[in-house]
Formats: sequence, C-alpha cells, structure tokens
Amino acid sequence: MSVEICGLSEDNVDDALAVCTPEKMRDIPSYNEGLKVRREWLLQLYRTVGPCCKITYTENVPVGMIQYTPLHHIPYFPTKRKDILYVHCIYVKKDLREKGIGSKLLQAVIDEMKKPNPLFKTEPCRVIVTTARERVGFKQPSYFVLKSFSRTADNIDVGLAYWLFETKPKQGLDIPVSGPIQVVEQGVRIFSSPACQYRTFWSEKIRKFVDEVKPNTKVDEVNLWTQPEEPLRRRVTSPVTYVNGMPIPLLDPDKFWETIRTKLLA
Ligand SMILES: CC(C)(COP(=O)(O)OP(=O)(O)OC[C@H]1O[C@@H](n2cnc3c(N)ncnc32)[C@H](O)[C@@H]1OP(=O)(O)O)[C@@H](O)C(=O)NCCC(=O)NCCS
Repeated sequence: MSVEICGLSEDNVDDALAVCTPEKMRDIPSYNEGLKVRREWLLQLYRTVGPCCKITYTENVPVGMIQYTPLHHIPYFPTKRKDILYVHCIYVKKDLREKGIGSKLLQAVIDEMKKPNPLFKTEPCRVIVTTARERVGFKQPSYFVLKSFSRTADNIDVGLAYWLFETKPKQGLDIPVSGPIQVVEQGVRIFSSPACQYRTFWSEKIRKFVDEVKPNTKVDEVNLWTQPEEPLRRRVTSPVTYVNGMPIPLLDPDKFWETIRTKLLA
C-alpha cells in the first residue's frame, strides 16, 4: 500500500474534509453547513497562520488527517508562551486503521516541529499538547497516550503533552486549570468550534431537543474562535453546552440529553 503525506493547501482542503465524512452524513443539510464552516476556518488558518493540517493519501485517496495550530493562535487559550503546538484531532478512515497511518501522520508533525518551520517564527516549538478529554465521537486521547504523550497537571484540554527536546518540562503551561465555570443565566448557550465539521449537526440536534422539551427557550451559539470573550470569562477551552448557567459536557449521550432535560425543567 503506497502512503503519501501532504500538507494542507488551497487545492486539497476538500480532501481534509472528505477524510472525516462518512457516507451516511452526506445528504444531511446541517452536516453540510458544518463542512462549509470548517472549510472556511481551515483556509483562513492556512492564509493567516500557515499549513495547519496534514493529509494521508493511499492510491491518491485521502484516508487520514491530523489538524493542529500553535497554541498562541487559538483565541480561547490564554497563553503567553509561543513554543507550543496544539493538536485538535487526528482521524483515519475506519477501514484503513491499524496499518500505521495514524503513527505516520503524528511522526510527520513531530519531525516537522523539531525543525525550524513556518508555524514557529519567533521561537522554536518545544512541546506538542492535545486534549485529555474524551467526548462522544472523540476517542483519540488514549491513542496519544499510547504514542508517548504524558498526562500533565495542566488544564484537561491541554492535558497530554509530548516534549520535543526534554523528558521533563521545566515549567507547566499558563492555562487556568478550572473550568468551565457555572454562571447565572437563563436559556441555552452552545459553545462550538469551527475545527469540527459535526459542529452544526450537533447544534441543530440540541436546538431541536430543547424545543421539544421546553418550547421557546432561548438558544444561542458561541463560536469559540470568533467570539472568545465569553469562553475566556467562563474558562471554556473545548465545546460545551450550557443550560441555565450549568456546563454540560458531552461524555455519554444518554446522560447528556437527560441532564439537559432535567436542567430545562427544573
Ligand atoms: C486513533 C487513530 C487515528 C489511530 O489510527 P491508526 O492508523 O489505526 O493507528 P496506527 O495504525 O498508527 O496504530 C495502531 C495502534 O493504535 C492503537 N489504537 C488505535 N486507536 C486507539 C485509541 N483510540 N486508543 C488507544 N489505542 C488506540 C491500536 O490498538 C494499535 O495498537 P498496537 O500498535 O499496540 O497494535 C484511529 O483509530 C482513529 O481515527 N480513531 C478515531 C479518533 C478520533 O476519535 N478522532 C477525533 C474525531 S474528530
């Protein structure tokens, strides 16, 4: 099997989206809307920050991708450091897993970050971090542990780290640990990320559910990238839904919907 890894460019952005699109989602309008949002986000990032995604091809078909950004370019992570790369996600198509494609993608990023590269112009990259938080449809943290990422005492959303040049960190990260915090408010607020093409699909599901349980409840959506003020205030560092001021993570689907219902009807 021939495997080729390419950086994202204006020409192959749709391949990055195709890797994560299962056949059954293709005709769902809210999913297609999410595709447009992620496409725009990837292109904008490419034009302003640099190539923040790698795609694997086998026989010219895109089958895997890894997506990342220097942490200091992510507006909802308040950091002064300029030497950290954040990996948003890694994904390999189901029928091609366990063939080393994920390992090759990750190794390609590690190798690139060890050298001078366009994402780190002022300081070299010293550490790669990713979230230690599992969510529905997001099962990658244990994979990064398998690949020698260590759990740290930092915020869970940067809670797995791989140091490029040292075995022990000299200092922790400067991201506040606690969060997301509870606030006083009525209604539903969905904090979502353009980095995931399922975002609009999930938001629509939540809106529909809320409308069935308690019609006329106010539901807003906050984009973590373009509206970071409220995420920073609440210490929201990954997608989350607030219902009447309480953050409800999406860990277990049954519990998620049940908690939303209970909170709405309280
Ligand atoms: C994690 C993932 C990228 C691995 O890709 P891959 O090409 O199959 O990985 P490799 O072939 O390099 O590695 C296979 C090894 O990883 C292990 N592995 C795969 N997925 C794992 C996981 N989620 N947790 C722990 N170990 C995992 C396999 O058991 C195998 O172990 P072995 O080498 O000891 O036999 C792939 O399984 C995937 O895409 N999973 C979904 C990830 C996800 O939820 N992403 C976010 C959604 S946007």
